[in-house]
Amino acid sequence: MEKEKFYITTPIYYPSDKLHIGHSYCTVAADAMARYKRLRGYDVMFLTGTDEHGQKIERIATSQGVTPKEYVDKVVCGIKDLWQSLDISYDKFIRTTDDYHVKAVQKIFKALYDKGDIYKSEYEGWYCTPCETFFTEHQLVDGKCPDCGREVEKVKEESYFFRLSKYQDALIKHIEEHPGFISPQSRQTEMISNFLKPGLEDLCVSRTSFSWGIPVEFDPGHIVYVWVDALSNYITALGYGSDDDSLYQKYWPADIHLVGKEIVRFHTIIWPAMLMALDLPLPKQVFGHGWLIIDGGKMSKSKGNVVDPKVLVERYGLDAIRYFLLREVAFGQDGNFTNESLIQRINSDLANDLGNLVSRTVGMIEKYFGGTLPYDQEGTEFDLDLIKTASATVEKFEGYMDKMLFSDALSELWVLIRRTNKYIDETQPWVLCKDEANQAKLAGVLYNIAESIRIISILLQPFMTKAPGLIWQQLNITDERLTAWDSTKQWGLLARDFTAAKGESLFPRIDMKKELEELDAALKAAQAESIANQMAKKEDEATETVPQITIDDFAKVQLLTGEVIASEAVKGSKKLLKNTIQVGNETRIILSGIAKYYTPEEMVGKKVVIVANLAPRKMMGEVSHGMILCAEDADGNLSLVTDDKGVASGSEVR
Ligand code: MSP
Repeated sequence: MEKEKFYITTPIYYPSDKLHIGHSYCTVAADAMARYKRLRGYDVMFLTGTDEHGQKIERIATSQGVTPKEYVDKVVCGIKDLWQSLDISYDKFIRTTDDYHVKAVQKIFKALYDKGDIYKSEYEGWYCTPCETFFTEHQLVDGKCPDCGREVEKVKEESYFFRLSKYQDALIKHIEEHPGFISPQSRQTEMISNFLKPGLEDLCVSRTSFSWGIPVEFDPGHIVYVWVDALSNYITALGYGSDDDSLYQKYWPADIHLVGKEIVRFHTIIWPAMLMALDLPLPKQVFGHGWLIIDGGKMSKSKGNVVDPKVLVERYGLDAIRYFLLREVAFGQDGNFTNESLIQRINSDLANDLGNLVSRTVGMIEKYFGGTLPYDQEGTEFDLDLIKTASATVEKFEGYMDKMLFSDALSELWVLIRRTNKYIDETQPWVLCKDEANQAKLAGVLYNIAESIRIISILLQPFMTKAPGLIWQQLNITDERLTAWDSTKQWGLLARDFTAAKGESLFPRIDMKKELEELDAALKAAQAESIANQMAKKEDEATETVPQITIDDFAKVQLLTGEVIASEAVKGSKKLLKNTIQVGNETRIILSGIAKYYTPEEMVGKKVVIVANLAPRKMMGEVSHGMILCAEDADGNLSLVTDDKGVASGSEVR
């Protein structure tokens, strides 16, 4: 039988070499859904990618003295690398600079023009470059962008317009007739009352004042408005407008476009109107999730409050971060990110509830039965309730997942985890083990716990990509029939006399107080270190000033002098040098992205300044213990910060 298809997309991201945990949130959510659907037997297409054109990118590239293409090529690798470190199982990654996309967008634009839905006129109004959005005078708030609050620019240029207004009634009708089309419901209300009912104006869909974009084929002085270019990715990625559109035929319409709440408008008004104009079916659902906020505001590079997902993954592991993102915040609403809540969740839900359940169960099987349960087993009066809870959990879990209520699904799964822990307390294996006559009962109890863990491990899979396999190793489960999704609906599939062997602790407990200090320093260090920060600074220089820090903030950074005693290129990297630095009595390895500017020979003997208390960081398989300070000018010239009089190495720099 042919599998049912399921097509899910994330937004395509603006290329920045610092995607933060807020961006990861959307992608992790889409990944959890894609994994869940695959586990349930669907033929899944999961699309993500990068939105590489537009004035914003052109300006960042210019400020860095590179071409836009050079800039995006450099940054996209980092984005793919981040998705890899978060185990994002996308099936296709589209770049809007891909040739097939460019050609298909030109065809789409031409088709709309030929139909009379695109016409030439003149645009006069306001433009927010960071949001790549046009605004009328009355839409501005205090003369600034109503979405991001930044400065807008006056634009007056010849432009093509899309007849958006023509589709207003059809859009309202579609939304009203398809109640799930915009989810959650609150976003539907917002779209209708704030945008559709007040009336739609035709949309400016080409620009002439810069050149980084897709040229309008029949009028090359114009480039296609970046949102028209970007939204089209959802069909061009499937081959729409190319010689082979078989994927389009198979997967379109999308089942879910998952997007952040601020871009729901583009996806539920402009995009469906474009599709209507092209006579194509509309996506089944646009789900607008909330934001991860920090200190009450949206995490953003320009505010300097971004949290680097890589630092978190390095410290706590991938599963913990993926779990936290989808458990902590009710999907659809905004949720506050704090280091405390992250560590709290890891300790209570992961280390205490789940990790402990697995380790003490396997530990007891080893202790009481040498690792293999005897075939002879007996039940207890507590079994039925545990078995009933497991079956109810699976049913409710699926119900929540089908509605993308990830936090509810996880909370339901934890009902079973806690019920299983309670079952241990009720049956008291440590008492049963004392009497030889209770051996069969003890074996039955341990079997039931293990069986519950088996079911839990299967349900964990959309969220955790490592722990389920590690649990199966400990319970020695190798038969795929015991890990298939539908096997969660059958109690008693584990062989009664299975063998278990303790492995590493799944989620070690964290010392909250100590960790909070270290995590804070590590996140700040990652921010300071990132080249992205320099880029963001340049990008925002026009509108933002560098935030002031206090002397206490500065005192947190330990700067020391050191001498490079050895240096070599890092295998596989064009940028990195691996330097051995003498710092007082200690030597340490510091990786530095300066291979373009210094040879290893030139480095040896240099008296440098290092950031000594930077959390260790792994790059290209090597761990770096600090950072060497360098200065870089606007032309990209780089110079080491050195000690010109030769004070003793290990001296404090203040
Ligand atoms: N390029 C456009 C999307 C075009 S889709 C045809 C864009 N890119 S973005 O990089 O700025 O944002 C990508 C996604 O990340 C958006 O859905 C946005 O809501 C999401 N997030 C960015 N910061 C976020 C948080 N702090 N929290 C949650 N999601 C956030 O928009």
